Amino acid sequence: MRIYKVKDYNELSRKAANIISAQVISKPDCVLGLATGSSPIGTYKQLIEWYKKGDLDFKETKSVNLDEYRGLGIESDQSYVYFMNENLFKHINIDPKNINIPNGKKEDAIEECKRYDDLIDSLGGIDIQLLGIGRNGHIGFNEPDTSFIKETHCVKLTESTIEANKRFFASVDDVPREAYTMGIGAIMKAKTVLLIASGKDKAEAIKNSFFGPITPNVPASILQLHPNVIVVADEDALSLV
Ligand code: F6R
Repeated sequence: MRIYKVKDYNELSRKAANIISAQVISKPDCVLGLATGSSPIGTYKQLIEWYKKGDLDFKETKSVNLDEYRGLGIESDQSYVYFMNENLFKHINIDPKNINIPNGKKEDAIEECKRYDDLIDSLGGIDIQLLGIGRNGHIGFNEPDTSFIKETHCVKLTESTIEANKRFFASVDDVPREAYTMGIGAIMKAKTVLLIASGKDKAEAIKNSFFGPITPNVPASILQLHPNVIVVADEDALSLV
């Protein structure tokens, strides 16, 4: 595991975008595993800037996103498919047919989760998986549990995650209670994992995930067993280690 300690969110975004750029340049048809939330917004902005300057080309690149709220689709500005279009996809030349996100509108959870795992397999797995981290150590929507769940699955969000995500919704009651998430299996099979964390409220999660025991109660702690993890975190996020 390599940990890059950076000064702040801006530096974090540049560093993470550099690492993703290196992947896209060295393998233009790579599979990028992508995340939503506040953490990657700066990284996506930087990638867009470099694309607009002509330094990056996403024409052959494929993407698979980590998760989607169950029940939400592109028509909802809180859906992750909407977020990804606004914050990245509509600004770059990725081919829409190469974009993959769990379909929140699919009611049959078993079918949708199987489709997503089969799809990731058919792409040959993920080259680099970008991850944020929840305050409770969740990655994707893999919440603290008694075991690690390998496959894409439908989760009930914890109160702490609902609380953290309510800032994006009109009220806490509007936050969906369930989501589809890639499982720990596909994340662990990614050739490289790039986890980014910024701010004091991530410090506990970083400490528990990378400097504590490996336990499903802290889902990101499994990354200690991954052969190629890069953590880019700012001074605040690393303030407890
Ligand atoms: C988002 C995701 C989540 C977030 C995590 C941190 O696709 O999978 O695990 O990465 O909740 O969210 P932010 O970055 O908003 O603090």
